[in-house]
Amino acid sequence: TALSQDDLKKLAAEKAVQSIKPGMVLGLGTGSTAAFAVSQIGKLLSSGSLHDIVGIPTSKRTEDQARSLGIPLATLDTHPRIDLAIDGADEVDPNLDLVKGRGGALLREKMVEAVAERFIVVADETKLVEGLGGSGLAMPVEVVKFCWEFNLVRLRDLFREFGCEAKLRVGEGGEVYVTDNSNFIVDLYFKEPLKDGVAAGREIGKFEGVVEHGLFLGMATSVIIAGKNGVEVLNK
Ligand code: A5P
Repeated sequence: TALSQDDLKKLAAEKAVQSIKPGMVLGLGTGSTAAFAVSQIGKLLSSGSLHDIVGIPTSKRTEDQARSLGIPLATLDTHPRIDLAIDGADEVDPNLDLVKGRGGALLREKMVEAVAERFIVVADETKLVEGLGGSGLAMPVEVVKFCWEFNLVRLRDLFREFGCEAKLRVGEGGEVYVTDNSNFIVDLYFKEPLKDGVAAGREIGKFEGVVEHGLFLGMATSVIIAGKNGVEVLNK
């Protein structure tokens, strides 16, 4: 029988977990693929095949999951260097640059993954794109609540040439989505992929009141992609 998308996510996640060694400080990602990794770490700990690790969660959701599985947790305050971070992504381009944050956890993800010695991205093949912004899905930007609309308009105008539409993220009940850091998210949608992700990130970062954006450039050290034809590891 054909593998489902969840089966593929699980395959990629479990392959990444094989790189974990006792003694490691781990960055624990957010989202449905990363959740398979966290769950596998929990299993290995309870069976005794893994021990002496500590996890730094990238969201309240992941923190809750990890805690429920008995994974020892810490923060960047006490563990400022991470041996290995494992997380999903929304888009992966041929340079292993990423768009992340559809799950809303981009700020903590970036803080944790930026200090990880190794950052393994886990994904199914639907996440592969030729150019960032090319999936038609949201590229998130976390903004402070204060004058969010002012920043939404500036962001949309910045990317006018890429046919950018900007929307304030709303939750499932129609309420404005609030991040773990009490900010809002502006989701950017592009008609054409970005030509220069580095320039895009730099320009977004110049806007006061923008807290973080979902472009994760030069951060992933490898990407594990699971598809119908098996699991492939792309290395930097
Ligand atoms: C969370 O904020 C995101 O960056 C996730 O890593 C990303 O959305 C991937 O999620 P899935 O694994 O659920 O597709």
